[in-house]
Amino acid sequence: MRLEGKVALITGAATGVLGSTMGFGGASAWLFAREGAKVVLADINDGLGEQTAGQMRDDGFDATYLHLDVTREQDWADAFQATVAAYGKLDVLVNNAGTSARTTVDETTEEIWDAQMDVHAKGVFLGTKHAIPFMRKVGGGSIIIVSSMYGIVGSPTVTAYHAAKGASRLFAKAAAMQYAKENIRVNSVHPGYADTPLTEQYFSDPERRRWLIGRTPVGRLGKAEDIANGILYLASDESQWVTGSELVIDGGVTAQ
Ligand SMILES: NC(=O)c1ccc[n+]([C@@H]2O[C@H](COP(=O)([O-])OP(=O)(O)OC[C@H]3O[C@@H](n4cnc5c(N)ncnc54)[C@H](O)[C@@H]3O)[C@@H](O)[C@H]2O)c1
Repeated sequence: MRLEGKVALITGAATGVLGSTMGFGGASAWLFAREGAKVVLADINDGLGEQTAGQMRDDGFDATYLHLDVTREQDWADAFQATVAAYGKLDVLVNNAGTSARTTVDETTEEIWDAQMDVHAKGVFLGTKHAIPFMRKVGGGSIIIVSSMYGIVGSPTVTAYHAAKGASRLFAKAAAMQYAKENIRVNSVHPGYADTPLTEQYFSDPERRRWLIGRTPVGRLGKAEDIANGILYLASDESQWVTGSELVIDGGVTAQ
């Protein structure tokens, strides 16, 4: 019970339906609940989110779904009010929501750029900003920002996603410095190529899949659980001396 007594809000957590490919947020929600946390699953996919939270409750866990578009400040304010109304406090925030956009610089429209920045950079800022006052009230907390290995290294086919994930990586360090004395920790997680609903279609092409596995020293693509286990560590008190750090979980891709 590594999260016993803790209350966690996870964004992008709708993709946790049993029997289907889970995303990092959905897998984290299940893992957090099994480790004793009360979990608020937040997303814009209300159908899947309600289904996941319902399955968790059926299994005896304390889980609630709420609609939260991470790009809208009012949604964040409402989400934390609802979390505290339901569970009394907030200990952990996982900023995980995301979308992909595979375009080169000259193919990237202003709309694509803004949309990527909004969800991955502004969304992370807004969530962190609104979480701080609630974490202060309970004497600390842990904020986990799901960036990407693409927030550390470049690639030939992606533009705004790299820029936005790089922004969230450094934002985590700035926030970590600002709130360390208040026992509020902020860390980033950098997943490599992992099978989730987000990548399902793109990674299903056999030739591309072979290439991705070939680039991954461990010899397989990641699973949502591989990432959720890292997120769990950063959420738990086991990582109480860890802040402003980058946890790379990529099967060795960026070590090359
Ligand atoms: N799968 C990978 O290989 C990989 C690698 C590195 C980083 N990531 C990052 O991991 C995170 C989780 O992705 P995943 O691969 O688990 O996919 P996923 O599809 O399970 O998760 C993304 C979730 O975010 C939600 N979402 C999108 N826009 C939103 C918004 N504005 N507000 C709230 N929710 C929103 C989606 O509805 C979806 O449920 C993303 O930030 C993604 O960029 C994924």
